[in-house]
Amino acid sequence: MKKIGFIGAGKMAQAIIFGLSDKSALMISGRNQQKNQETALKLGVAAAASNSELAQACDLIVLSVKPQTVSLVLSEISASLTTEKTLISIAAGLDLQSLSDMTAPNQPIVRVMPNVNAAIQQSTSAIVRNEQVSDSNYQLIKSLFEQVGSIHEIAEKDFSCFSALSGSSPAFIYMFIDAMARAGVRYGLSKELATRISAETLAASAQNVLKSGEHPQALADSVASPAGTTIEGIVALENHNFNAAVISAIEATIKKEESLS
Ligand SMILES: NC(=O)c1ccc[n+]([C@@H]2O[C@H](COP(=O)([O-])OP(=O)(O)OC[C@H]3O[C@@H](n4cnc5c(N)ncnc54)[C@H](OP(=O)(O)O)[C@@H]3O)[C@@H](O)[C@H]2O)c1
Repeated sequence: MKKIGFIGAGKMAQAIIFGLSDKSALMISGRNQQKNQETALKLGVAAAASNSELAQACDLIVLSVKPQTVSLVLSEISASLTTEKTLISIAAGLDLQSLSDMTAPNQPIVRVMPNVNAAIQQSTSAIVRNEQVSDSNYQLIKSLFEQVGSIHEIAEKDFSCFSALSGSSPAFIYMFIDAMARAGVRYGLSKELATRISAETLAASAQNVLKSGEHPQALADSVASPAGTTIEGIVALENHNFNAAVISAIEATIKKEESLS
């Protein structure tokens, strides 16, 4: 069985590990030994004493530190890396070429962009590999991320857009749910009930888009009857530039992601 190590067990690595059913081949490392051991105990995985120890012990090494920390970690583990090992980077903004530039020649590297919904096995992830990654390792890595949600093989040029639409958008969606809930509170509902109504409605509406195959705008039109209540809300949203605000949020996220490479 291939050993899989996560360097940097923060929010994203924990979400992925939490979503994986078999944790027997998993290991984590961090910069703070005591914190790393506590996290390993909580997650039910092995703790490495250092990033290098993890790199030596594992076949698949997931770089799950912040993008700014990746080069530091790669120089730390360089002596333990061989072409038999595959690096998997989930760092925003770092493309295969920049990752390759930070490693020895011919290092197999896979880039994955997951999201926090991995913790409930519903991540929407993207994947791309360099030509050094064998088909069998690529299939294995794909199946690993399939355990925590869906995986899309996309061109690397589309990663920034994917990162905004999938990696960052849960934050925007949580903000939308909370704004709806606050409106409910304004009209007398408890925050708890209003949040539940808002989240359930969002989840069901998203399912409807996926299951019906209908265009979201057609579904919106089907809710808005002539001279009814919903069209008033739609017009109010447009008067406050709802579409433009959402598109700006995605654009700002893409720009920041592109500035990281
Ligand atoms: N969060 C998301 O929704 C999301 C989505 C897609 C992709 N990503 C990518 O996932 C990566 C991690 O993001 P995150 O949100 O999980 O960040 P995070 O919660 O800050 O986790 C980063 C982890 O790396 C550890 N770390 C820092 N320096 C280290 C070192 N030298 N060696 C080993 N570990 C070190 C940190 O430990 P300390 O806490 O002790 O500093 C922390 O546990 C980023 O590259 C991000 O772009 C995140």
